[in-house]
Amino acid sequence: MNRNDFPIFKNQPSLVYLDSANTTLKPQNVINAVQNYYENYSANIGRTTYDISEHATAAFNDARTKVARFIGAQPSEIIFSHSATHAINQAAFGIMHLLQPGDKILLTEFEHNSNVVAWQQVAKRTGAKIVWIDDNPNLSDVKIFTYSLVSNITGELFDYRSIVKNVHTQGGLVLVDATQAISRLPINVDQLGCDLLAFSSHKMYGPSGVGVLYARQETMGRLQPLVYGSQTFVSISRASTELLENYAKFEPGTPNIEGVIGLGAAIEYLNQVGMAKIQQHDEQLTTYALKTLQNAALNTTTRSSHIKKQVGVLPLPHPTIHPHDFAMLLNEANIAVRAGKACSDILMQKLELERGVVRISFGVYTTETDIDKFAAEYQEIIARFTNG
Ligand code: ALA
Repeated sequence: MNRNDFPIFKNQPSLVYLDSANTTLKPQNVINAVQNYYENYSANIGRTTYDISEHATAAFNDARTKVARFIGAQPSEIIFSHSATHAINQAAFGIMHLLQPGDKILLTEFEHNSNVVAWQQVAKRTGAKIVWIDDNPNLSDVKIFTYSLVSNITGELFDYRSIVKNVHTQGGLVLVDATQAISRLPINVDQLGCDLLAFSSHKMYGPSGVGVLYARQETMGRLQPLVYGSQTFVSISRASTELLENYAKFEPGTPNIEGVIGLGAAIEYLNQVGMAKIQQHDEQLTTYALKTLQNAALNTTTRSSHIKKQVGVLPLPHPTIHPHDFAMLLNEANIAVRAGKACSDILMQKLELERGVVRISFGVYTTETDIDKFAAEYQEIIARFTNG
C-alpha cells in the first residue's frame, strides 16, 4: 500500500518484513522529523527561553496534542513514558494505594507478560487477588480490570464493554493495553469507556523509547507517580516538595524529546494514510493469509463470543517443527517473523503451546506478495523436515 514511504525497502529490497507486531518500520517523515530536531533545534524543553529551546518545547507540546486527538482525549490527559511497559507500570503502581486486601484485579489470558507481571507485584504488595477472566470469576469486588484490545498472538479484537460497565458500577477502574491496536484501528477512549490506556510509539511507526499513558482527568487526579524528580513540582525545600497536579508530575527529568517529536510525525503519517483504510488493509491481508495458509494458522476459539475481528496478526503453531527452526530458515530467505511465546506465556500455557508459535504480523507496507513468499517458504520448510 505505502511501501515507498519506508526507505528501508530501498536499502533492503528483498526484505519480507512480517514482524510489525514486534516493532513497525519507520516512514521517511518520522526519520526526517527526528533528524530535523538533531540538525536544527536539538535543545532541552521547558526550562529555557532561547529560540531553539522554544522551538523544541513547541514541537514537544504539539506532539502531545496530536497524541491526544488521535485517541479522542485532551492533551492534559496524556503522560509520556519510556515504553508501554513503563506506562502500564505507572498505571499499576499509581493506583496501588486504592487497593485493599481481597480486592480483585481482573486479567485476561491474552495479556502480554508486561500486563501480568506489574499486577502480580501490585497484588503481592497490597493483598489484592488476581483473577482470570477465563476462569469465569465472580465479578464482585473487581477494582481493576485490564485487557489487551488486540491480542499480540492471535490478532483478535476484543469487546468487553459490558464488563467495563459492571466494573465501573462497583467503582473500579479499567486499563486498556492498546499496544497492538493503536496502529491497526481507530481508537477512541470514550467509546472504549476506559479510565487508562497504554501504548508505545515504536509499534505505531514512531521511534522506540516512548510510551504513552492516557489517564482520564479524574483518574489522573488519583494516580501517584512511579518515578520522582525534577520539573514535577510547584515548590521544593529541604523539608518537602509540593508536586504539580497535572501530567507533568509523572514526567520527571529530560524526556525522550526527539522520540516524542517523531511520534507526532508518526501520527501525522497514520492520519494521512487514514485509520479506516489501514484497518481495511489489515483485514484484507488477514483474510488473504488465512486462505493462503489454509489450515496452518491457529484456529482460536477461546473467546469466540467476544471476537469481533482478527486484525493483522496470525499465529502458526506446528506439531513437530520448532518455531525457532522455522524462523532461522525463513531468515535465510530474508523473511522476518517472530517465533516463540512472543511475551505471552500465559496464553501459550493455556493453549499448551510450550514452544510457542511462528507469528506473522502486518503493517501498512505489507503486500500479498509478502504473504505468498512466506507461504511458499513455510511449506518448503515443512516439506524439507517431513522428507528428512
Ligand atoms: N510485544 C512484542 C511482540 O509481541 C514484543 O512481539
